[in-house]
Amino acid sequence: MRRGSILQLVVIGVIAGAIAGAVAYFVPWLPKPATLEAERIDWVFWFVTVICIVIFALVISVIVYSVIKFRVAPDDDTDGPPIHGHTGLEIVWTAVPAILVTAIGVFSAIVLARNDALGVNPLRIDVYAQQFAWSFKYPESNGLSATELRLPVHRSIQLRIHSKDVIHSFWVPQFGQKQDAVPGQVTTLHITPTRVGRFPIKCTELCGLGHAFMRATAIVMPAAEYDAWAAKQGQAQSTGGADAGKAIFASNGCAACHTLKAAGATGKVGPDLDRLPAFAKGPGKPLDAFIRESIVKPDAYIEKGYPPNVMPKTFGSSLSSKQLDALVRYLVASTRGGSA
Ligand code: CUA
Repeated sequence: MRRGSILQLVVIGVIAGAIAGAVAYFVPWLPKPATLEAERIDWVFWFVTVICIVIFALVISVIVYSVIKFRVAPDDDTDGPPIHGHTGLEIVWTAVPAILVTAIGVFSAIVLARNDALGVNPLRIDVYAQQFAWSFKYPESNGLSATELRLPVHRSIQLRIHSKDVIHSFWVPQFGQKQDAVPGQVTTLHITPTRVGRFPIKCTELCGLGHAFMRATAIVMPAAEYDAWAAKQGQAQSTGGADAGKAIFASNGCAACHTLKAAGATGKVGPDLDRLPAFAKGPGKPLDAFIRESIVKPDAYIEKGYPPNVMPKTFGSSLSSKQLDALVRYLVASTRGGSA
């Protein structure tokens, strides 16, 4: 082959590779990783992508070169030259892909093994999935329960994922992995957060009508802040003291949907809790019994003007009976004094 032809092939290949490389690099195909594990997975993606770009450039250069160089003349009806294979070329195009696929397999296996390996002093958190809400329990913090997943940054964390009904799947895009929640089994997911921030938790397994709304938030905090939060909330929720109800109200995300002056909550999705005494007159129940039922079985009575099936039905099982008592006491005390 002449030197000029090789130069043309190289030029076409470099242009094709540059275009493919730009599409891979400049388009944000994946969210910015927020865990060590997601960063490793990104490296696997880049390893495979670079291999693909090189092969793509090679193939495109030969195709484009051949289309131009060997284009048939308009009046040429003759057959092409007979070709009987090329042993050297066939060995190359068998051996090279075999080596590449093996390399991808080995690289992936190393990343998988390292991602699954717990670090020193791992923090274990129980994740509960239920139609259609997430809840979290911190066994190391007096069984503290919450509907937001708070995590300390740079700590090895094992999520133990449970399902209370059907199959769900836990996914934080920035954490880079998905793990199914399967009834009757405990699945695990290991993460090591690398940056502070708020990240969406999505259910990524079709689990019923409310699947699309089965969302929660993961909040990665500086380690000291996390420790302070866990100690304070865990203590408050387990003692059942005066602040217990307020702490449970705060840590279970009630304020996201409800207004309650005593807690500084201004949510507008669900009923205004300052008006609970008035709402209790609807089904004609004592205030404390009405509040308890509304927490455990939120659809038993729906106040006019509010949609059913919005409030999670998980609180009856995610809160301990002590925590539930404290929350009911807190809501009764906070609203009885207030105006109906
Ligand atoms: Cu739970 Cu989809």
